[in-house]
Amino acid sequence: MSAEIISGKILAEKIRGEIKDDIEQNGYTPCLAVVMVGNNPSSAVYVRNKGKACEEVGIKSITVLLSEEATQTEVEDKVKELVSDGGIDGILVQLPLPAHLSEQRILSLIPPEKDVDGFSEYNTGNLLLGKKCLKACTPSGIIELIRFSGTEISGKHAVVVGRSNIVGKPVAVMLLQENATVTVCHSKTSDLKEFTRSADILVVAIGKAGFVTGDMIKPGATVIDVGTNRGEDGKLKGDVDFDSAKEVAGKITPVPGGVGPMTITMLMKNTLIAYKRNRKIDEF
Ligand code: GUN
Repeated sequence: MSAEIISGKILAEKIRGEIKDDIEQNGYTPCLAVVMVGNNPSSAVYVRNKGKACEEVGIKSITVLLSEEATQTEVEDKVKELVSDGGIDGILVQLPLPAHLSEQRILSLIPPEKDVDGFSEYNTGNLLLGKKCLKACTPSGIIELIRFSGTEISGKHAVVVGRSNIVGKPVAVMLLQENATVTVCHSKTSDLKEFTRSADILVVAIGKAGFVTGDMIKPGATVIDVGTNRGEDGKLKGDVDFDSAKEVAGKITPVPGGVGPMTITMLMKNTLIAYKRNRKIDEF
């Protein structure tokens, strides 16, 4: 039997349509600033795609490109300038930064109300406490995809493979918030297959192409593949071996076209939320 495909492309188009309508109909003017330091090719693609998505939904975007050699002070001064600009609703510093820069010191300059990536200590803490906040985009997109697939989350066993601050940890907290019973596995977990095979919902964000194979999946499970590994042939490959997994899973996200389109969509959503909140259009 072949699993049902959960299309992030379709869901992203639907949500972007809703954001666009809201902006157009209400004459909103949200603005997102993206800072990129250096010329990491993957980052350049992300930054370009963010700009395109902004244009599509009617969000003004400012892209600040700084050279690979930019100093800590130069990057910090640029971020401070964006922070004090009242016309900018959201600020995102594209990661990874060049090794000589302190990521933590730069990110800590972004105030929680402009932190559309949801990476700040304040927003991360509020997520853990179950309070309203700007939430990290990829994990929010994953929850939207699971809901869209019609999979019940409450009471189910959700297994997250990967414990990064950007995906694994926040998505585990969000699944817990949705009343799943959550297990977090990682590179040091022994008997990983024991855990993955008991998952009703399996989220894989380990960063290894084809790492989860069909024999590691519970029949009928909903599988979310967060992997974006570039193969030697230049093609994007997920962390899940799609061909064997689709014969066992009930529902599965493809790569590309699954989680990827949702991340930028949730960034658009966060920018609109920040705009409305900062202009007291919406409570937070
Ligand atoms: N690099 C890879 N993913 C992300 C993301 O979601 N936000 C930022 N700022 N950088 C990234």
